[in-house]
Amino acid sequence: MKRIAVLTSGGDAPGMNAAIRSVVRTALASHLEIYGIYRGYSGLIEDDMVPMNSSSVSGIILRGGTILKTARCKEFFEEFYQKKGADILRKRGIDGLIVIGGDGSIQGAEKLTNLGIPTVTMPGTIDNDMHGTDETIGHDTAVNAVVSAVSRIRDTASAHNRAAIVEVMGRFAGNIALDAGLACGAEYILVPEVPFSREKLARSLKLQMEAGRTNSIIICAEGADDGRALGDWLKERTDIDICTTILGFIQRGGQPTARDGQLASILGAASVRALLDGETGALVGTKQGKVIILPYAEAKKIKEPFREQLYNLAVMLGAAQNDGDVRETGL
Ligand code: ADP
Ligand code: F6P
Repeated sequence: MKRIAVLTSGGDAPGMNAAIRSVVRTALASHLEIYGIYRGYSGLIEDDMVPMNSSSVSGIILRGGTILKTARCKEFFEEFYQKKGADILRKRGIDGLIVIGGDGSIQGAEKLTNLGIPTVTMPGTIDNDMHGTDETIGHDTAVNAVVSAVSRIRDTASAHNRAAIVEVMGRFAGNIALDAGLACGAEYILVPEVPFSREKLARSLKLQMEAGRTNSIIICAEGADDGRALGDWLKERTDIDICTTILGFIQRGGQPTARDGQLASILGAASVRALLDGETGALVGTKQGKVIILPYAEAKKIKEPFREQLYNLAVMLGAAQNDGDVRETGL
């Protein structure tokens, strides 16, 4: 193996730059040439790539976003463009590709592997929704951004005796909501994995405000409900003053936390080594704090269970007198 390439794909995540830096410097230390492909699979099919050296990645470890840019590339769903991408890599003499991205990006990588291109994928998404790995690069930073926003929101909500809805990202998964909700002591955590009842939420909120609470934080995953619509409904249903914040892209940018910087550095180096060891078609992730290399086919079979114990703990800790459980069933 003489020459490899790296790309970032899908939603950007803090720590992707640290991952690129680790890949580039590990490759160079292993006497490999390393190319950076711009704009994910879009750049690949347009042959938009440059050779990288050590100084290409100087000063980026603490920067959010990705210096290689990223994209959601519709064309790459088509076999024609997958073959075009594989041909370009072959023509360039690239013997292995490292993809940094989420659940979608890994599928693109699998298509290239099926066409004979050795690939490994590093998990990079704030959602932490990838099968087969405990952690994804960017999740910890996003969770910290939510916690720090909630701290500010609680101050102002409390000053007005308001309940505050905070809608967070996560697509179809409630991991950002759960991890941030537990860490900031949210009174309610709404996630797509646990059907909830708006009626129960309204009743519980009313009870708590009548009992003298000066504020209440409702973390609402975007996959569980629409924060704005929920706020309007609650306002109509109760006489509680509600303020709603859609946190949006503030969760996706910014300096990666120490944890994300470390994870990205470790997985970047492990990915290069995996290619050198002849691994292909594999996710390079973590399980119980250890680096694992898992074939895509096996990773796909794993369905990460919803962390119900943690959810129960958050509900118990966050709800005064245990009236904060808003599950549709089980009360
Ligand atoms: P993420 O990787 O963050 O989950 P997406 O789901 O948007 O983001 O996927 C990123 C890109 O990966 C897509 O825009 C597409 O180019 C590629 N991709 C996703 N799914 C497939 C697939 N089934 N086949 C080929 N390429 C795919
Ligand atoms: O997958 C990361 C993520 O930020 C999700 O949490 C969110 O639903 C989605 O990407 C937003 O994507 P876009 O940048 O295309 O609006």
